[in-house]
Amino acid sequence: MTEADLYTIYKEVYVPSVVHTAESLKYYEEFTFRPDDILIVTYPKSGTTWMQEIIPLIMSGGDPASVETLHNWDRVPFLEETRASILNLEQRPSPRMFTTHFHYNMMPRSFSEVKPKVIYVMRNPKDVFTSSFHYYGMASFLVNPGPQIEFLRKFLDGKVIFGSWFDHVKGWLNVDEKQPIFYISYEEMTTDLKDAVTRIAHFLEKSLEAEVVEKIADRCLFKNMKQNDKSNYSVVPREFMDQKKSQFLRKGIAGDWKNQLTPEEVDYFDAVYKEKMKDVKYKFVWD
Ligand code: A3P
Repeated sequence: MTEADLYTIYKEVYVPSVVHTAESLKYYEEFTFRPDDILIVTYPKSGTTWMQEIIPLIMSGGDPASVETLHNWDRVPFLEETRASILNLEQRPSPRMFTTHFHYNMMPRSFSEVKPKVIYVMRNPKDVFTSSFHYYGMASFLVNPGPQIEFLRKFLDGKVIFGSWFDHVKGWLNVDEKQPIFYISYEEMTTDLKDAVTRIAHFLEKSLEAEVVEKIADRCLFKNMKQNDKSNYSVVPREFMDQKKSQFLRKGIAGDWKNQLTPEEVDYFDAVYKEKMKDVKYKFVWD
């Protein structure tokens, strides 16, 4: 199946049609934020699910009830997906927690007016590519990646779901100066998760005892989180996600691109990266 069969174009980027209907996108456009809402923003495969585990644990002071009983997509719902409109989000007590994959310039009016808190997670795009390659191969609602070089071209051209990684990152690095936003990378989280939890909690003005931070970080280690059937997508029917082909929580490491890309593909990637990111001042951990 092709992009035309499986995707909808919304504000110039592809979104998977199965969970992004005209109604769901309208719901998002008309959504009313509160100033104390917490919004996880990511380009897909950058650590979304991981953050959907970490933030609720921080906000509950380490109480695992919500991560043990609610699926990640209900715990920290994707605002642009069909499910959001049936979750009664308007009735949820503050502070509410949400997720989006949208670019900064795709955010609805209420977002710019209210400026809720944003946690922006970014990841080395070569690893985002690698994770995406496996994900597109196992999810039936995404266009099969085909030969790796073809998928690489699509990825670097932004002809994949949620558009260009470069545009996503550049847009969110360049937000209104009054926008509360905390930037963190997947790589920092793999290097020192306790430190990441401490810094995120600080941004969210949540004071946590050292032992609580330790408990949260331990729970969110890849090997432990992988066991949580409320977060590992194992309940999704095989016709949608075939985890026999590739697991959703697949490897959970930084640098797997070295096992995936050929030297020629690395050169191609680097050349595009250099050109697209030439005006960006931000110091990424992978540069
Ligand atoms: P890999 O495919 O490289 O393993 P997203 O949730 O944004 O779709 O990102 C999925 C990626 O995050 C997958 O990467 C997944 O394994 C990884 N991931 C999820 N939870 C993680 C954790 N606790 N620790 C490390 N990586 C995690």
